[in-house]
Amino acid sequence: MPLTYASMRRAGTPLRLSAGAAAMLMFGVAGIHGNTATASDGAAERSVDRSAFGQLPDGRQVDVYRLANANGIEMRVIDYGGIILSLKTPDVRGEFDDIVLGFDSLDAYLSDAYRQANPYFGALIGRYGNRIAGGRFSLDGESHSLATNDGDNHLHGGQQGFDRVLWQVEPFESEAGTGLVLRYTSEDGEEGYPGTLETQVTYTLTDADELIVDYRATTDKATPVNLTQHSYFNLEGEGSGSILDHHLMIDADAFTPVDEGLIPTGEIRSVEGTPFDFTQPTPIGERIERDDQQLTFGKGYDHNFVLANGGASVDDPVLAARVWEPDSGRLLEIATTEPGIQFYSGNFLAGDLTGKRGEAYEHRSGFALETQHFPDSPNRADFPSTILEPGDTYRSRTIYRFSAQETPGS
Ligand code: GLA
Repeated sequence: MPLTYASMRRAGTPLRLSAGAAAMLMFGVAGIHGNTATASDGAAERSVDRSAFGQLPDGRQVDVYRLANANGIEMRVIDYGGIILSLKTPDVRGEFDDIVLGFDSLDAYLSDAYRQANPYFGALIGRYGNRIAGGRFSLDGESHSLATNDGDNHLHGGQQGFDRVLWQVEPFESEAGTGLVLRYTSEDGEEGYPGTLETQVTYTLTDADELIVDYRATTDKATPVNLTQHSYFNLEGEGSGSILDHHLMIDADAFTPVDEGLIPTGEIRSVEGTPFDFTQPTPIGERIERDDQQLTFGKGYDHNFVLANGGASVDDPVLAARVWEPDSGRLLEIATTEPGIQFYSGNFLAGDLTGKRGEAYEHRSGFALETQHFPDSPNRADFPSTILEPGDTYRSRTIYRFSAQETPGS
């Protein structure tokens, strides 16, 4: 009997990442209108400040926001693409390092080389994370044509996705930590999508060493929505080589196999006995070179995993993945309300982009774990729906938790 999406979700109590996290995020928390605000509840100073980062070709200014929590974790974000530029977290010895791939200048994000490689470092992705086959879908009997930017397919929102637009940003401080509310209105017809989409994403850096990403959207016409965040991590520090020794656990018993164009075939396939079984922590590189058609199509891992406990609630994120790096001991845990996660092992990185510490980003020197609905869902009635209707609110939450420990744990 073929597997179905419903049959691959486990029954039982979801694994919660953080009991407090669900209650913490409130919209409309007091905004910070000056350039800097600090509070000193913990050992380090909590802060959020803003400065100029650069200028877009049309003259609009791009700002960079620096957030810090009470334990010294620091994150920098720009309003262009909502891009997370840097994220410094401690290793097991307490040494801080920047664990996300990115650049220190706006020009690097705007360069032809970057456009060509299209890695989406640290960016917000919308309206639709991952691919829509042929850039086409039908909705309520009407067919829609989207901008194509990945051969014949539509990828990550098209030519001018949410990764390339300027967001309105409002910093805030709340009980949980410091953060940013980012807003963007996507006009009716943008990149071919129906409806005006009012989008709001909140980044909160908490004193529990979590980055909480909250997504909301409303529309005036039915339209697909699948927002995500495209940070690439290297837990040893950006620019410090391959991620193949990182131990990865994904709480998924199944994945969605793809064709050569990385479009899901519609099958929900068990991971058992395949290189896609990450139910137990396994080094990313252990099976990546195996002779396996799916690894060949993906040029490594570039697949959507069906989360065992995913998609159950829009309020309660459940643990989806854990990644541990042996030299630094850094541990990243990801919890989400989404039904899927795209594990991408940085297969298209080719050493032609140079990062913040002056090192080229070589093949597989960063990985992304993109929480999401499944690719091509608008063309797959049996996948969880991505259609947002007028009057409804799209909601999604993902939590990244940073810590460090000597052993991989389980
Ligand atoms: C996603 C896609 C990949 C690739 C990267 C960005 O993970 O699935 O195929 O496009 O984004 O390079």
